[in-house]
Amino acid sequence: MNPYIKEDPWSIIEMGFEPERHEISESLFSLGNGHMGQRANFEEHYSGASLPGSYMAGVYYPDKTRVGWWKNGYPEYFAKVLNSTNWIAIDIFVDAERLDLATCQVQDFVRELSMKAGVLRRTFTATLPSGRAIQVDATRFVSMKHKEIGVIEYNVTPLDADATITIVPSLNGDVMNRDTNHGEQFWDSVACLHDQSRAILTMKTKKLDFYVTSAMQCQLSIDGNTVKTTPTLSNVANQLSNQYVIAAKKGEKVTLHKFVANVTSRDHAIDQLHTVAQAAVLHAQTIGYNQLLREQEEAWDLKWKESDITIEGDVSAQQGIRFTIFQLHQTYSGDDERLNIGPKGFTGEKYGGSTYWDTEAYCLPFYLSTAQEHIARNLLIYRYRHLDKARENARKIGFKKGALYPMVTMNGEECHNEWEITFEEIHRNGAIAYAIYNYVNYTGDRDYLSEYGLEVLIEIARFWEERIQYSEDKQKYVMLGVTGPNEYENNVNNNWYTNRIAVWTMDYAREVITNLQESDAQALLRIREKTQLLDEEIKTWQTISEKMYYPYDDKRNVFLQQDGFLDKELIPVNDLDPQELPLNQHWSWDRILRSCYIKQADVLQGLFFLSDRYDVATKKRNFDFYEPLTVHESSLSPCVHSILATEIGYHDKAYEMYLRTARLDLDNYNNDTEDGCHITSMAGTWMSIVYGFGGLRVSADRLCFTPSVPKQWTSLSFKVIFRHARILITMTQDTVTVENETDIPAKLMIGQSAIDLAPYTHQTIAL
Ligand code: BGC
Repeated sequence: MNPYIKEDPWSIIEMGFEPERHEISESLFSLGNGHMGQRANFEEHYSGASLPGSYMAGVYYPDKTRVGWWKNGYPEYFAKVLNSTNWIAIDIFVDAERLDLATCQVQDFVRELSMKAGVLRRTFTATLPSGRAIQVDATRFVSMKHKEIGVIEYNVTPLDADATITIVPSLNGDVMNRDTNHGEQFWDSVACLHDQSRAILTMKTKKLDFYVTSAMQCQLSIDGNTVKTTPTLSNVANQLSNQYVIAAKKGEKVTLHKFVANVTSRDHAIDQLHTVAQAAVLHAQTIGYNQLLREQEEAWDLKWKESDITIEGDVSAQQGIRFTIFQLHQTYSGDDERLNIGPKGFTGEKYGGSTYWDTEAYCLPFYLSTAQEHIARNLLIYRYRHLDKARENARKIGFKKGALYPMVTMNGEECHNEWEITFEEIHRNGAIAYAIYNYVNYTGDRDYLSEYGLEVLIEIARFWEERIQYSEDKQKYVMLGVTGPNEYENNVNNNWYTNRIAVWTMDYAREVITNLQESDAQALLRIREKTQLLDEEIKTWQTISEKMYYPYDDKRNVFLQQDGFLDKELIPVNDLDPQELPLNQHWSWDRILRSCYIKQADVLQGLFFLSDRYDVATKKRNFDFYEPLTVHESSLSPCVHSILATEIGYHDKAYEMYLRTARLDLDNYNNDTEDGCHITSMAGTWMSIVYGFGGLRVSADRLCFTPSVPKQWTSLSFKVIFRHARILITMTQDTVTVENETDIPAKLMIGQSAIDLAPYTHQTIAL
């Protein structure tokens, strides 16, 4: 346990200011509401190391690709999440001396993120170089109810003597991304309105023409009494600021309330942006800080009522899971089907803020079980809307038919440009097909298949058909030159997982076609005409399925990650010098590629997805072989290992892997939290509780649980929505209680007992 973050069931708390950890804290204490997000940068000027981050969902920049050796098929750009107008800035001067925590003596520094209320608070005492001392207490939140509104309360109290406190709130459009390929600034200023009553700034991206308008309103008070004072206005280099000068007595608290509206051209007509922003910020000001804060608490209260997980007897684990649920809600709310879930959410720039296979493989289950059905459906429709682009993408790299979804995207176009991933990490297509199955199996919404899903399945199956080839030598179908989920191997032949998920997609597409023929032949005909699907294609998928080659080791009875895997020297990770971990920060890429070390679940990913097709003994053999070689240097890895470990009865391992996934960022396991939190893997953490310890599966239209509460916990409880019924499940070491909180009956299965749970009833079962 890292003592730097204090254990607490409902809050993330940092006691004492450690400048060298500041960028990690900026990630951990980030705020978001699905529409916008903000790293925990300081409001006041800070000259120390910091990664500024104010993000607006869906606003991105196509940064021109930069590579040494261009390869045909590379995309022209990489989509970057944009650091937008800095709306939190509040500069502070004490008798004209600027507050900068990098140059002050800082005492009693406490930063607390209340996950219960969605509020960030920071308090400290600073002694400035001149010896002047002040106390600061700053609170902020981005409103869950009024998505375009952010609010700050900033209090300054002179401690040692009367002082002139100068407070300078601003909107600053002069911002850069840390991650730019050509050192470009991505914004142009368009317009501003700045007078005694308003400050409104509109910035526009240099490409794609996204407009972002920010409007601010400020209120000042001393010891709670409103102060009417006229600010001095300044407008320099796209920075609009209001300077307020206040004579404060020793011990008097000077308070600034800053209300900001951030609106974008994604949601409003460009010529309306100023009006909309101004109206929104004035509305916020009228509601007032205290009421906005209450509404924030109520909005979060509702979220927690629907999706909280409680763990009794283990505060560290409790804090970990709440942090993940909190971050997922902050990142994506599902109201806007144009949006998706970037690997870093609103907590950093890395990965470009785009969509990866992470959404389908890791995030979908969280939204399936904790939100209304249309939210998970929206995530699938997002890919349906990109189908044409995925077809184009396949053509672009030489395929005659089918669709290849991009590895990384904002609008359906590929924007990743490392050949071994862009062209070879094609298993992502399988995850998109699997998500359709997962959704339909969970919700029972079979109409989705005829409306959208089957078309996607057909195009993905066609892609696999063309990508797979027949080996005369093996007399089997093979797939050459791929990168599996384990990115510490590139350009391998017959990655077991990719072969398996490809065949699974073709099988599933055939199954859906057969079922639709019976249930709605008209719909099938329409889809077949639209996609011009031929009988012989369906037959070919079947032939491939029957004759696919899967690498296997007869001696150990395990699936082989790829051809030739056993040629490697197999030394368990535990035998490495811990100083060499993480490998990606200590070893050359060449050494990593030649080693046996596995970045993330690969064969095990397949055994997790296709869990119902493999028995426990098979899972155990493969786990025993692969887990000791896995370094978990992708955040997506430990959750899958935790779930499988529970299933095969390795309870200590499951618990160890759970803590690693749940506290990955809080304890900075992979030494990279300063880049942002691992948002998509947080959904995996949720799975490791609900699918792992709760054993949730769906079988024959029943929601099944196989409980296995870690011995460290007294009890575990969580809620899931299944076919519109919301069920509260509470597990102890010896009992399971299921409670139906809705008026919809639910079909459940606990261990071997089938239970039909009537509305508003509960049942307890002894284990
Ligand atoms: C993982 C990928 C993942 C990406 C974004 C990489 O480190 O290997 O599987 O899609 O991160 O989370």
